[in-house]
Amino acid sequence: MEQYDFRRMSIYQIWVRSFCDGNGDGIGDLYGVYDKLDYIASLGVDAIWFSPIYPSPNADFGYDVSDYRAIHPDYGTMEQFQRVLHRAHELGLKVLLDLVINHTSDQHPWFLESRKGADNPYSDYYFWRDPVIRRKGNKPPNNWSSQFAGSAWEYAPERRQYYLHLFSKNQPDLNMDNPRVREEIKDIMRFWLDMGVDGFREDVITYISKREGLPNGLPWLPVVNGMHHYKDGPNLLRYLAEFRAVARKYGAVQIGEAPMTGVKRALRYVCGEDRVLDMLIQFQPMMADCFLTEYLHHAFSLRKLKRAFSRWQYGLAGRGWNALYLENHDHPRIVSRYGSARYWRESATALAASYIFQQGCPFVYQGQEIGMTNIRLNSIEQYLDVASQNLYHMFHKNEPQEKRMQRIHVSSRDSARTPVQWSGAPNAGFTTAAEPWFYVNQNYPNINVERQEREPDSILNFYRAALALRKGNETLLRGDYREYHRHSGTHYLYERTLGGERILVAISFAHHPIRIRLPEPWRDQSPALLLSNYPDPAPGALRPYEAQVWKMRPKH
Ligand code: GLC
Ligand code: CA
Repeated sequence: MEQYDFRRMSIYQIWVRSFCDGNGDGIGDLYGVYDKLDYIASLGVDAIWFSPIYPSPNADFGYDVSDYRAIHPDYGTMEQFQRVLHRAHELGLKVLLDLVINHTSDQHPWFLESRKGADNPYSDYYFWRDPVIRRKGNKPPNNWSSQFAGSAWEYAPERRQYYLHLFSKNQPDLNMDNPRVREEIKDIMRFWLDMGVDGFREDVITYISKREGLPNGLPWLPVVNGMHHYKDGPNLLRYLAEFRAVARKYGAVQIGEAPMTGVKRALRYVCGEDRVLDMLIQFQPMMADCFLTEYLHHAFSLRKLKRAFSRWQYGLAGRGWNALYLENHDHPRIVSRYGSARYWRESATALAASYIFQQGCPFVYQGQEIGMTNIRLNSIEQYLDVASQNLYHMFHKNEPQEKRMQRIHVSSRDSARTPVQWSGAPNAGFTTAAEPWFYVNQNYPNINVERQEREPDSILNFYRAALALRKGNETLLRGDYREYHRHSGTHYLYERTLGGERILVAISFAHHPIRIRLPEPWRDQSPALLLSNYPDPAPGALRPYEAQVWKMRPKH
């Protein structure tokens, strides 16, 4: 089947547990999603990506799947999912599911069988290796570390072997080299595609092929030791091509999550008619205030952010298509990271303009459209994310406790997982239950959807205006990208051009007014304003976090 034109889409991401509780038990669900579909459509997006909604023991909140063909009872039933799917389609929204197949839950029936011994049909569904025998006790088969800190191996006494888990010990890695495992994955894909799902976001898909022999990683790496032996691994392209053949039959779209992948490598996946993925979720724009992971925090660098943006804009130009995002369920809230508390509205809208008008598909993560901010909990016990827990307990163990809590405050994924703030009602209108499943950010009386619906210049309405502008403008959709003033530490300036049309996006990241010298073709012009986050903008003059989008008027 022919593929739909995904390049025009913008995509809204739902992490359902915290989106909206429809049945009053304190947990977000598909009833709440159903009720909010009109709201989602009102944003002007074209698709929804659901983070995992399958049964899961929630060791990693859905990214540990125990049944790939069902709906988590907390979120509703299969019938309810089909209602959501049907209504979304009526509203013109595509539906993408999260395909989490690098690993399963340790409670998945495959793993429960596999760990029993080396002689059942599921024995080779995972990576099992013997311990390395040492006089002082047994050691894991290699020195790889988990993405969530600690060893990537866990001993299973029943089988007297270790199993590999690149994430938590409750997420054993599937052995994709086993052809039967790949057939299972294809069946799962068909199951959802037959139901009418429009494609997948594929979780850490670039990790699924491990180097043969599982050799040791470089011992001195502080985090993710061993990564170069499984990231973009030897058989990855071959496996992806097999999955692609299934997706192609349905015209489905595939978006691959690719941590630490650079442009050069990305081009192998996303170019041309025979590409194996349509877009990559790459991580470079997430590293403008940290090193490799948010846990290793440093001050925000606008230059670093712009370098990341432009590297991908130029790198994929004419060849691939970018996935554009500043938030998802794995990263703290962007306005708390790259924006400003003092200029909260201005910086949240400036950040929106910084990425939505680049070439690619913009993603908006639930709550981002109202400028939700990070949460700050007092003790580590209050944090629920396994990554935060592990990092706190296993990494930088010798640092004082306050320092480690500070690292959690700036890095925790839980900041993106607080309930969406719908209104000023108790619990932000997220639930009618007395207690929501997780802490509501106490700034909800000020930051909520209902209030921003009423305010014409709210962050919410800016997102709507920005997405509508992009959608209706061929230059913003397809035009070439060019950056100016790339060394500036105060502003981000880029142009989009198509045929004779030129659009200029100017964004200040400064706390004081600045003047910028416009690029040559824009001097002595009185361009037409397309969008701004301040009243009465003037080209070349930017107030704190001012964002301006200009179109050059045709010459007479
Ligand atoms: C991806 C997911 C993240 C999860 C990890 C393991 O990075 O986005 O939430 O923890 O994979 O599945
Ligand atoms: Ca519920």
